[in-house]
Amino acid sequence: MSEKIRLALVGCGGMAGAHLEAYGEIKRKGLDFFDIVGVCDPAEDRAREFARRIAGFQASPAATVYSSLEEMLSKERLHAVDTGSPHHLHHVIACTCLEAGLDVLVEKPLGVTVRAGWKMVRTAERTGRILATAEQVRRWIGPRTVAWAIRHGELSGRPRFFLAHSCHGPKEPQVEVEVKSPTWRQDKLQGGGGMIIDGGVHYADFLITCYGEPDTLFATCGNFNRSYVTRPDGSRLLLDCPDTAIGHLRFKNGVAGTWVWTGASPGRPTSFTVHYGDEGSVYAEGGYPMMPEFHRRDRSVLPAEDLRRQYLASLSEDERARLFPPQLFPDPQSLRGDHGVELEVHDFLCCVRDRRRPEVDGLDGLKAQAVSEAYLESSYLNRSVSVEEVLSGKVRAYQEEIDGRWGL
Ligand SMILES: NC(=O)c1ccc[n+]([C@@H]2O[C@H](COP(=O)([O-])OP(=O)(O)OC[C@H]3O[C@@H](n4cnc5c(N)ncnc54)[C@H](O)[C@@H]3O)[C@@H](O)[C@H]2O)c1
Repeated sequence: MSEKIRLALVGCGGMAGAHLEAYGEIKRKGLDFFDIVGVCDPAEDRAREFARRIAGFQASPAATVYSSLEEMLSKERLHAVDTGSPHHLHHVIACTCLEAGLDVLVEKPLGVTVRAGWKMVRTAERTGRILATAEQVRRWIGPRTVAWAIRHGELSGRPRFFLAHSCHGPKEPQVEVEVKSPTWRQDKLQGGGGMIIDGGVHYADFLITCYGEPDTLFATCGNFNRSYVTRPDGSRLLLDCPDTAIGHLRFKNGVAGTWVWTGASPGRPTSFTVHYGDEGSVYAEGGYPMMPEFHRRDRSVLPAEDLRRQYLASLSEDERARLFPPQLFPDPQSLRGDHGVELEVHDFLCCVRDRRRPEVDGLDGLKAQAVSEAYLESSYLNRSVSVEEVLSGKVRAYQEEIDGRWGL
């Protein structure tokens, strides 16, 4: 592509703001092969605020503000769209843009259900456009180091099993939690199923990078906080999306583990991940493994900085340039915090420019989502499910109501 990529942002909410910052950083680092020419949100004041922020790092052209996607597509000459909307609109916005001949980056989870995800994947295949899932967690240097340490047999030996526990909150003093201002996230039909879909897909995607194809899952999900909203008549409506997901997940390579994710663990929070192999374990504090260390059989410890150094030294020049482009991050050893969004939007821009496959395409996003959906389906059906039967759509009892609502 010889001209600059003409990009639009559709949905100007919280996460789109992080994307906006990342595009600004990329420009500030001198990579000026794209312009954000349009911003679109039915809440026009948000789109206007985005246009103002864009002007801070892109002197011209100014991004035009739209409150309707259709109007933007009819007036604006575009190559690509980056969209972060409520989940039930992902397939609507993405398919409209793909049909209009644009490449699309969609925030995770790919769709509000598996059927919504397939609709997007098939539309991308038919139109020949790029569909990428915005997935930053696997791109952080911590998770990349863990995945390498697990796969690097000389260090950790044959993988055995894993534990991933992220247990926080609640902070409210009362046992039953009133949600005073519910958003689309608390609505099963718009959000798709709460935190296991919303944040869980990050972890599912990361586990896939560690162990390959998932096999079967048995899970219990629940609304342990008994969160509710108060109806206008004063009665309580219990929220139908879980705050807790407890699952036993087995991969096709035979490795199994428990993955627990909850916002309903009163008292002491516990948050860690550990992956055991024949020769030791890769351990990290926190919900995501940002600073993993390696514990050998003899109990000696390879500290996080050293493990990271070994990982980086193991990369070929090409791998290093692909995973941590030096124009963005000349010193990956020093990386902290969220550099994943910058990497993910940079990857998308390069795919649009070079006509190559994104690291996490639509189908990859859908495969990770199928693991999260399998949690909900297994709990709903009270039996183990295979991730394949969820991905194929054979099992969709929990999702059926959502599919029905959106005509999927
Ligand atoms: N990767 C991450 O770490 C991360 C973190 C938070 C959210 N997300 C994802 O980002 C997406 C958005 O979440 P959020 O927290 O930013 O939500 P949000 O509610 O803050 O923003 C959603 C925006 O979409 C806009 N919108 C609604 N209908 C629209 C339409 N028809 N066309 C265009 N825009 C429309 C809303 O007005 C709002 O500004 C979700 O997919 C969510 O899962 C990802």
